[in-house]
Amino acid sequence: MPGKLIIFEGIDGSGKSTQAKYFAKKIKAIYFKEPYFFKKIILSSIQPLTELFLFLADRAEIYSLIDKFLKRNHVILDRSFPSTLAYQLEARNLKRIISLDNYLKIDLIARKMINPDIVIVFDLPVATALSRLKKKTKFEKLRFLSKVRKAYLKFAKKFGWYVIDASKDINDVRQEIFNIFRNKRIC
Ligand code: TYD
Repeated sequence: MPGKLIIFEGIDGSGKSTQAKYFAKKIKAIYFKEPYFFKKIILSSIQPLTELFLFLADRAEIYSLIDKFLKRNHVILDRSFPSTLAYQLEARNLKRIISLDNYLKIDLIARKMINPDIVIVFDLPVATALSRLKKKTKFEKLRFLSKVRKAYLKFAKKFGWYVIDASKDINDVRQEIFNIFRNKRIC
């Protein structure tokens, strides 16, 4: 694929969406955000397992678009499977019924076997992230997000994702992402 797939991740209030949109403009990449197609249902009150399958279904739709765009463009994706690993498998403890290895096999099928070139995790204390949020949804509780944060850091180590300090000033965070992009010859 000539284009690179870059995923921005982090807990709610980490500032990843602001940076993802900024960099999409800067490097002329296509911007997508998960969840997209089933967002309304997902944010309503449903079982964690239903949630997991809907995220997967949503992903299958989005990656069929991403697949096409990657032939000519870079794509910046605001959340993807790392969110499911951190939120559903770990924080909602669905790993008790589906192992990480098994889950990743299905997820990779939903992704049309496309793996990201870069994953950047925006890391910051949960209390700081929560103080940045105006409206809160069912995903935004301190104890829950602490589990999500811990999970992101664990998976980042396991899969070699970048972790940046998202508690810093917006310009410093931007600079860190620029450095990653330059290293990877994205810009
Ligand atoms: P949204 O309002 O779009 O939040 P954000 O701007 O922080 O992405 O809501 C998406 C929520 O869905 C967010 O709390 C994270 C959650 N989520 C999962 O739990 N699993 C997933 O696989 C994905 C993609 C998102």
